[in-house]
Amino acid sequence: MAAPTGIKSPTRARIAARTLRTDRWWLYPTFTALVLLAFVVYATYRAFVGEHYFAEPYLTPFYSPCVTTECVEGSSHLGTWVGDWWPLSPAVLILVIPLSLRLTCYYYRKAYYRSFWMSPPACAVGEPHRRYTGETRFPLILQNIHRYALYLALAYNVLLTYDAVMAFKSPEGEWGHMGLGTLILVVNAVLLGLYSLSCHSCRHIIGGRLRNFSKHPVRYRAWGMVSVLNGRHAQLAWASLVWVAFTDFYIWMVASGTWSDPRFF
Ligand code: FES
Repeated sequence: MAAPTGIKSPTRARIAARTLRTDRWWLYPTFTALVLLAFVVYATYRAFVGEHYFAEPYLTPFYSPCVTTECVEGSSHLGTWVGDWWPLSPAVLILVIPLSLRLTCYYYRKAYYRSFWMSPPACAVGEPHRRYTGETRFPLILQNIHRYALYLALAYNVLLTYDAVMAFKSPEGEWGHMGLGTLILVVNAVLLGLYSLSCHSCRHIIGGRLRNFSKHPVRYRAWGMVSVLNGRHAQLAWASLVWVAFTDFYIWMVASGTWSDPRFF
């Protein structure tokens, strides 16, 4: 049998107790697991339900862009070029992009490795696994696609910004409309944009591999700004996650007639 790795490896200190910590270290991973689980259940239901995703002029981010012929009238801002061959809800086609970004995000990796795989559950708390191979093998080696997921997500953010702009158009087709839904969609686009810009890969793309910052003043400035956001990446990850679910929920309620959208202009 191969020699154990990780905390059971022969080079690690022999400590019988799983942890010597006396604080409530389990609170963070438990809370994280509950929130992520709630989001996954909610998003899966909404992605497959295939209704109440458009309340003119609001299109929920879960179904944007809506590109199959199944999309309800008025919701296909980019046309229905996918046609009718796609057998599932149109949301499933789209959600692959934000999902791949979040699943491979450095922050979420830490969060779900701790919460679900307990690898390790917290600092200075032993993990239950005998072996540790990191992200060197399939399937975790696929985490390396993160940079490419970011490129797609940046394009997706442009579409969500477009949706937020379209939310200033009234159902009658006139510009200057503003309802509570407009504000919610604007905040959603801003939060998702900030979350993407604060990404570690984004920071590396902007300022990485430079030998000399003084020869690249523009990139250096941009790197400085992105670095400030990067320090808030975890908070932006949570805020954008909760807000995108809230945005969808709000539009669901308006589209289903459960409540009406307060209109300011
Ligand atoms: Fe979180 Fe890139 S590290 S989105």
